[in-house]
Amino acid sequence: MKNLHNALLLKQLYQLKQLGYRYTDTAPSQYKVSELQLPSSIEALEKQASDCHLCELSKSRHHVVFGEGNEEAEILFVGEGPGVIEDDTGHPFVGRAGEVLTNMIEKVLLISRSEVYISNIVKCHPPNNRAPTATEAHTCLPYLLKQIDYIKPKIVVTLGNTAYHYLTGDESKITQIRGTLQKRGDYTIIPTFHPSYLLRNPSAKQEAFIDMKLIKSLMKA
Ligand code: URA
Repeated sequence: MKNLHNALLLKQLYQLKQLGYRYTDTAPSQYKVSELQLPSSIEALEKQASDCHLCELSKSRHHVVFGEGNEEAEILFVGEGPGVIEDDTGHPFVGRAGEVLTNMIEKVLLISRSEVYISNIVKCHPPNNRAPTATEAHTCLPYLLKQIDYIKPKIVVTLGNTAYHYLTGDESKITQIRGTLQKRGDYTIIPTFHPSYLLRNPSAKQEAFIDMKLIKSLMKA
């Protein structure tokens, strides 16, 4: 909860920055609690996200890709941001990277994709598949933290550098921290490679397989 509160404060500061402010003498503690709240159901949160115009990405998106899957999932996967096909369809990980992710879930974890929850750091497609900027990521992060709050997963798998970096604040490279377990409150973060990276670097699939086996070993029997 403290995480979410801080993320909401940070979001407000990034929004002020976007509006041209460089300094603010408003101490964060002076923000009203009501300004720092998000809806208390995942449906209402999705509705709010679908009307979101808080960052530049909202101008060019076709669909808000909120995330989907089992709302009581034990495992939540977090990617970077929707690609072109995801932007067209409104569903996360449905392109080639999605095929790789689905195979990892179904062939190594031996569960169906619908049993997990899949989301992203930003809910709107960054043009030209660029990485989201810090402002975009911090503006959007409260939605993901609230999704984590509702779903209460036991394991959060971050896919690639961007997802790990913005969820944890740690700038370590994915090659250094993949396959490690990081306890955060009620859940454990396990960073692994992004499926798009695996498409470009098939030799890394072996390490991704080891990470998925680790995840499998932590799942409820
Ligand atoms: N890549 C991502 O990071 N997320 C998606 O939803 C699709 C591709």
